[in-house]
Amino acid sequence: MNGSAAILLIAAFGTGPLLRRDQYRVLSVSIHVFRDDGICIVTADKPKILIIGGDSLVGASVIAALKGRGHNVLASTRRKDTLDPGRVFLDFENGETYRVPNGIEYAMVVAAATDYDRCETDPLARVINVELIPKLVGSLIEQGLFVTFISTNSVFGGERPWPKEDDPHFPDIAYARQKSEGEAAIRDIVGRLNATDRLNIVRLTKIMNAGVSPLPAWFASWQGGDPIEPFEDLIFAPLTVAFAGHALATIAEKRIPGNMHLSNAENISYVDFAHALARRLGIDPGLIKPTTSVAKGINIAFKPRYSGLGMARTTQLTGIKPLGVDQLAGDLIADQKARSEGIS
Ligand SMILES: NC(=O)c1ccc[n+]([C@@H]2O[C@H](COP(=O)([O-])OP(=O)(O)OC[C@H]3O[C@@H](n4cnc5c(N)ncnc54)[C@H](OP(=O)(O)O)[C@@H]3O)[C@@H](O)[C@H]2O)c1
Repeated sequence: MNGSAAILLIAAFGTGPLLRRDQYRVLSVSIHVFRDDGICIVTADKPKILIIGGDSLVGASVIAALKGRGHNVLASTRRKDTLDPGRVFLDFENGETYRVPNGIEYAMVVAAATDYDRCETDPLARVINVELIPKLVGSLIEQGLFVTFISTNSVFGGERPWPKEDDPHFPDIAYARQKSEGEAAIRDIVGRLNATDRLNIVRLTKIMNAGVSPLPAWFASWQGGDPIEPFEDLIFAPLTVAFAGHALATIAEKRIPGNMHLSNAENISYVDFAHALARRLGIDPGLIKPTTSVAKGINIAFKPRYSGLGMARTTQLTGIKPLGVDQLAGDLIADQKARSEGIS
């Protein structure tokens, strides 16, 4: 480019004119190329990260974490009335190939048909999870991106403790079968494109925030001095939205191919979970009255014996460690406090 000059602009926060490294945070980086007469002819923002499924619980968590780290994020939505420069329309069902805007080199595919009942009864859910999402992943790979596909612990069926990242699947319910088949279809497409070095699959355990059932009812009961009745026979290994968001942001930054897991360090019952929260809140343990889903006549679709995922490979390659039960309780109580103060 004859006679042109490249200028690097860095936007920064700080506490004074002379900043130490720990006093500023890079918000965005732009490269502008100017002609000799001062006209800007090229503007290249720092490559953006694309999150497919920005309105989902998990999508919102990773977007918040990425933005907090200064990344330029583009999110997809099906809600046309919410489109803006940071939100693009994408619906798997409209049959169109999604053309990624210039400057994006990474996508995380979070959106899916997630409702257990819908997966059992609506044939379109299977089409979304097993055909349309793998097709989208293939297209993103063909357009040169590195792709992370979000999957679930339920692909392992829940009969064996701590399945490793590359262990075989034993899915039981329709949702788990569809996610497992979706993973296989994605691996097949990406393998045929000789691009397995640009794919990772990240499986998550249950994601909680203070708004996820049964927490709003538990907090309300305790506030009124009433007991709660958690299930002894329901086991999980939950993550918080805050933990999942940050861990996924790290995975988006590192872009390591292969399978990864994010999990709590323990398999706990809802009774254990209630006690962990009560300890942190200073609630009388007498306000926890254990029961079972069977005793209450409640049919629970996915009732694993073991929910936690082995994270050895993930920890070795990314440094991300499983979430502890104490931190789980701490994060949820902080979220509850923020909600009651109208902060979140
Ligand atoms: N939440 C958990 O505890 C958990 C645990 C393990 C794994 N996961 C995995 O994490 C991912 C996100 O789960 P989530 O619970 O956060 O999801 P969610 O809150 O149920 O949201 C699902 C999202 O998918 C979008 N979607 C559905 N059909 C679509 C279509 N045809 N085209 C475009 N978007 C579509 C929905 O869009 P609308 O908002 O427009 O409906 C919604 O935003 C899923 O892959 C799930 O399997 C979640």
